[in-house]
Amino acid sequence: MLAEKKITVGITGGIAVFKTVQLVSNLKADGAVVNVVMTRSAQEFVKPLTFQVLSGSPVYTELFDPMAGAVQHIELATRPELIVIAPATANVLGKVANGIADDLLTTVIMAATCPVLFCPAMNVNMYNNVVVQRNIAILGKRGFEFVEPGIGRLACGVEGRGRMADLDLIKNKIRNLLHPRQDMEGLTVLVTAGPTVEPIDPIRYITNRSTGKMGYGVASEATLRGAKTVLISGPTILEPPRGVELIKVETATQMYEAVMARFAGVDIVVKTAAVADYRPLQFSNQKIKKQDGSLSLVLTRNPDILAELGRKKEQQILVGFAAETSNLEGYAQQKVKEKNLDLLVANDITQIGAGFGSDTNVVRFVYPDGTVKQMPLMDKTVLASRILDEALALRRKQK
Ligand code: CTP
Repeated sequence: MLAEKKITVGITGGIAVFKTVQLVSNLKADGAVVNVVMTRSAQEFVKPLTFQVLSGSPVYTELFDPMAGAVQHIELATRPELIVIAPATANVLGKVANGIADDLLTTVIMAATCPVLFCPAMNVNMYNNVVVQRNIAILGKRGFEFVEPGIGRLACGVEGRGRMADLDLIKNKIRNLLHPRQDMEGLTVLVTAGPTVEPIDPIRYITNRSTGKMGYGVASEATLRGAKTVLISGPTILEPPRGVELIKVETATQMYEAVMARFAGVDIVVKTAAVADYRPLQFSNQKIKKQDGSLSLVLTRNPDILAELGRKKEQQILVGFAAETSNLEGYAQQKVKEKNLDLLVANDITQIGAGFGSDTNVVRFVYPDGTVKQMPLMDKTVLASRILDEALALRRKQK
C-alpha cells in the first residue's frame, strides 16, 4: 500500500510514544521507507535503538552531528514525501506555529517541502489551553495537516480529549495524503452542517446540540477526493476544511435560502445539519423582561429544506440524516420516502458512541426500496468517506 513511499516520522516527548513504536512498525510492514527523527525529550521515553531496529535506518537526533553531512536537516526535510509528527506535544506545535527552529526536528519541519501531519497528544487541559488551540488554528491555516486527538482516559489519570488518535485513523490519513483518491473530480458536493439558531430577542435564541463535526468531515473528505465543495454551516467552533467554499448562516430560513441558491448546479447533497423545525413566531427587538408567572413562547414551523430539495431534485443524489431517540428504523423508512431521498443516514443518538459531539457514530444506511445496512461503530471521518462512496455508487446506478 505504501510501497517505497518515503516518510519521516518525527517523535516528540510524550507517553504516546509507545503507540508510535507500533506506527513505525506498521508503516514499514506496508512497504514505506521510514526515517525517524527524535527530540531529546522523546528519547527519555523510548531509546532511539528501538526505532532504528523497526525502521531499519539510523535514527536522527542531533542538529549538529559531526558524523552526518553539514546539511542533514535539509536532506531530511526535502527527501520524504510526508512528515508525520507523532506524538506532537504542545511544545512542538507552539514552536512551529511561531517560527522557532532550535533542534533537528523543528529545523526539518521548517525546511519541509512535503505535507506535514501532526498527531497531537497531551493532557486535556493543555490541549484545551487557548494558546495551544490558537497555535493549532495558525498551523491549520498554513496548510499543516492534523489528526485530532481522541477522547478517553489519559496517562495522567483524567478523562478528556488528548490521547493520540488511534493508529487506524493516523494510517488512514497518511494513505489519503500520499494517495489522494481523486474519484470525485468534476463533481460539486453541497454539505450542510451544524445547528441553526433561532433568535428570541437580542440576547436569547433556540438551538440544538449539533457540533458540525459530521458535516465538516464530509466536506473535508469530498474536497480531498477532488470535488468542488460548498459547505453551508450554522455556527460551530470548527475550522473550515481547506479548499471548501464556506457559507455561514444562522437561522433555518437563511440556510434554506443559501441551499436553494446553490442547488441547481450540484451533483450530491449531504444534509447533516440539525435544522430547527421551529422558530419563535415573533422576534422581540427589545430584551424580554421577566414577569410574574410563566411565559409562553409561540413557535412557528421553519421550512423543511430537505423535503423541498426532494421535490425539486433532478440529477442530484440526496443524502439526508435522521437523529432519533426511538423507533429508528420506522421513522427512517418513513423519512427516506416522504423526503424523496436516495439515502438516509439514521442514527439512534441514545446509543454509546453515536450522535452529537462524539467523534464516532453508529448509523444505519436506509434506502428508499426498504433496504437497510447496519454500519459498525466508526470514526466520523471514516463514516464521511463511506457516505461519499455510497453516494457515488448511487450516482453510477442512476446513469
Ligand atoms: N431537515 C431540513 N430542514 C428542516 C428539518 C430537517 O432540511 N427544517 C433535514 C436535516 O438536515 C436532516 C433531515 O432533515 O438531514 C432529518 O432531520 P430530523 O430532525 O431528524 O427529521 P425531521 O424531518 O425534522 O423530523 P422530526 O423532527 O419529526 O423527527
